[in-house]
Amino acid sequence: MATNRTLTIIKPDAVANGNAGNILQKITDAGFKIIAMKYTHLTATQAGKFYAVHNARPFYGELVQFMTSGAVIPAILEKENAVEDFRKLIGATNPANAADGTIRKMYAESVERNAVHGSDSDENAMIEGSFFFSELERF
Ligand code: RTP
Ligand code: MG
Repeated sequence: MATNRTLTIIKPDAVANGNAGNILQKITDAGFKIIAMKYTHLTATQAGKFYAVHNARPFYGELVQFMTSGAVIPAILEKENAVEDFRKLIGATNPANAADGTIRKMYAESVERNAVHGSDSDENAMIEGSFFFSELERF
């Protein structure tokens, strides 16, 4: 079932580089409503759990290290067709392949330090939303 919600994380590279404000502006300009948001710092356990689907990949250790290297801003976003439209707005995982005007094209440094996360399915959007916002049922 489509929930019209997705979960984003402004990643440590973008927060550290001072790009969070511009990225949030781009997100709201694209018609997404911010339902929940916080400024936090992940533990290795949290980052490892969040990206557990990748735990057999060669980049997993570095990914966990990167995601715990600085502050992050997770947020739940709402819009019709949120998951798919947000993936379009952020662009390809590797900024070298991301379309012009996408958030990763504008702000990502590399395939790993790629500025933002976006849920890849409605099911994962719900799981990831609950991961960061236990009070989700109130929103
Ligand atoms: P995300 O989950 O963060 O929205 O990114 P994605 O769906 O576009 O890409 P995914 O395949 O889920 O990869 C998760 C994150 O792992 C890092 N990565 N590093 N070194 C590498 O080859 C590599 N590949 C992926 C990136 O930070 C990617 O966003
Ligand atoms: Mg992914």
